[in-house]
Amino acid sequence: MLIAPNHEPAEFPRKMATMCGISGVVQETGQVGPVLYDSLKRLEYRGYDSVGEASIVDGRLLVKKEKGKIDEVERELRISDLPGLVGIGHTRWATHGAPSRENAHPQTDCNQTVAVVHNGIIENYMEIKQELEAKGHRFKSRTDTEIVAHLVEENLKQAPGLVEAVRQTSKRLTGAYALALISVTEPDKIVCVRRESPLVIGAGINANYLASDIPAFLPRTKSVILLEDDEMAVLTHNRVRVMKVGSGEEVLREPMVVEWGVETATKGGYPHFMMKEIYEQPLTVRNALRTSPMYIDLMASAVTRAKRIFMLACGTSYHACLAATYAFANLAKVEVTPVVASEFIESYGALIDGDTVVLTVSQSGETADTLTAVRSAKDRGATILGVTNVMGSTLTRLSDVYVGQNSGPEMGVAATKTFTAQYSVLLKIAVALARKGGTLSRARMEELERGFEELPKWISAALSNGGGIVKRIVERNADRFSFCFLGRGISVATALEGRLKLLELSYLPAIAYPAGESKHGFISVVDDGYPVLFIAPHDEAYSKIIGNVMEMKARHAHVISIIEEDDTQVANLSDETILIPKGIPSLLTPIVFVLPLQLFAYYMAVRKGYNPDFPRNLAKSVTVH
Ligand code: F6R
Repeated sequence: MLIAPNHEPAEFPRKMATMCGISGVVQETGQVGPVLYDSLKRLEYRGYDSVGEASIVDGRLLVKKEKGKIDEVERELRISDLPGLVGIGHTRWATHGAPSRENAHPQTDCNQTVAVVHNGIIENYMEIKQELEAKGHRFKSRTDTEIVAHLVEENLKQAPGLVEAVRQTSKRLTGAYALALISVTEPDKIVCVRRESPLVIGAGINANYLASDIPAFLPRTKSVILLEDDEMAVLTHNRVRVMKVGSGEEVLREPMVVEWGVETATKGGYPHFMMKEIYEQPLTVRNALRTSPMYIDLMASAVTRAKRIFMLACGTSYHACLAATYAFANLAKVEVTPVVASEFIESYGALIDGDTVVLTVSQSGETADTLTAVRSAKDRGATILGVTNVMGSTLTRLSDVYVGQNSGPEMGVAATKTFTAQYSVLLKIAVALARKGGTLSRARMEELERGFEELPKWISAALSNGGGIVKRIVERNADRFSFCFLGRGISVATALEGRLKLLELSYLPAIAYPAGESKHGFISVVDDGYPVLFIAPHDEAYSKIIGNVMEMKARHAHVISIIEEDDTQVANLSDETILIPKGIPSLLTPIVFVLPLQLFAYYMAVRKGYNPDFPRNLAKSVTVH
């Protein structure tokens, strides 16, 4: 099988989500340092807050690791000099524990016999950690990963060898992980395991490699073996053995030849990072929903105690707050005021005191407007809660409690996967609040829990059904000067986000409104063929939005509607439709209904000849006022 460069979303990379990069090499001659260093440089786009490598030399584990970017750590520790024939490496995007030497990978066991690198989130690490501590294991870091090294150490006491010890360990873990381990007990091999996090193996000559992503070893081999979920592999310098974690049974897997260049491979075969990040959302949303329940609960407790609650953010993050405001009111009966950060102190400074909670949302954690508002609120005695994608960012340092949204680095300037992840985390806080307040019925809770489970599937379906349709709609409407996005209820936030994506990438003066408000002004803009996009899930606002669609039709607008797949009523009123799987609980609709709007903006930018990854005048992190 051949994997060729692709300009449409390819089947192969769909499950990739960028969050930490792992790599490994086992070779017959030479030293692992230069190979690992080179592969980590190529994986730096997956994470860059700390770096580390481990190898085995003379029966002892050698570990070099430090907080910082790869080149900084290289200058300090010369990681490219690491000797040994077998080694593993890691570039980190912190999820559990802030960036620090202790929390950098590889993580090791008590006796420095086992080293592990990990990409993903281990959900049941607390329970396992307590169990191991009771057996006398001593932990050095705050990571979820370290429990793997100790559990393998423990299992090695009974198991016939490293492979079996890793297999037994893997069976205990819940969550997402790509793990690679080495042990002084068997210094000729690397054992790796995969569940839901990406892991690929490169089959070389007298050397074999593993990595989170193909570019890591592409200059050394184009021969790739893909691991499926719940499979593991044992790499020696002349053999790759793949087996099932459950049964230990061996699996025959032929290598495939990759025809990608390094640049295409870094984008997972997609033409732009933005497209890659849009298609990562089944996984990034799932990762966001895995945010530690303990911290979510701490946040909910702080909110419960507060007299006044604000949500603070800019741009896309503000739209996540808007949708969340609706969820807080609707689910938890908690009133929250969402505010654009640059307006916060002028508008609400006089109200802030020790009884105020400011729930701040910032992907980068470094947005100047957001941080200024947070500092002022903190000076006035407010409690700061932070939701961010960058552990160790200024927002995490200013926050009393913070949680990571676990999206991995977002390279496209326009926020896509981080929007859906932010809203997912905020929704978890709303659920925790509702539980505390006793406002959540059992039926609603079950509906939401089922919804959280189904979300990755709905997202995948919306993306695979929607991609081609959205592209054709863009083609048909590419010459329009302006577009309007309308929604009601929770979909107002989705409409605003669709508008923001389109205008920032295509430079079109787009409009967004609560649909009900559109007759108080916007409607005068509408003339023959003016394109209006309706976000119309089958929720509480549905019957009212039908009236709004009719109003637009009566003015000869060109109606493009995003609707559930069995919605014939709005479909009959529309000129073009984009279908979304039916049955999504209304509070989850922003996560799925925003996807075609992200694609719409993407295809429009490409159609106009603009690079969607680098829109003019915009920076990924706006650190000026
Ligand atoms: C839009 C976009 C920006 C950011 C805004 C806030 O696609 O990316 O509007 O959402 O600059 O950035 P953070 O979340 O980093 O504070």
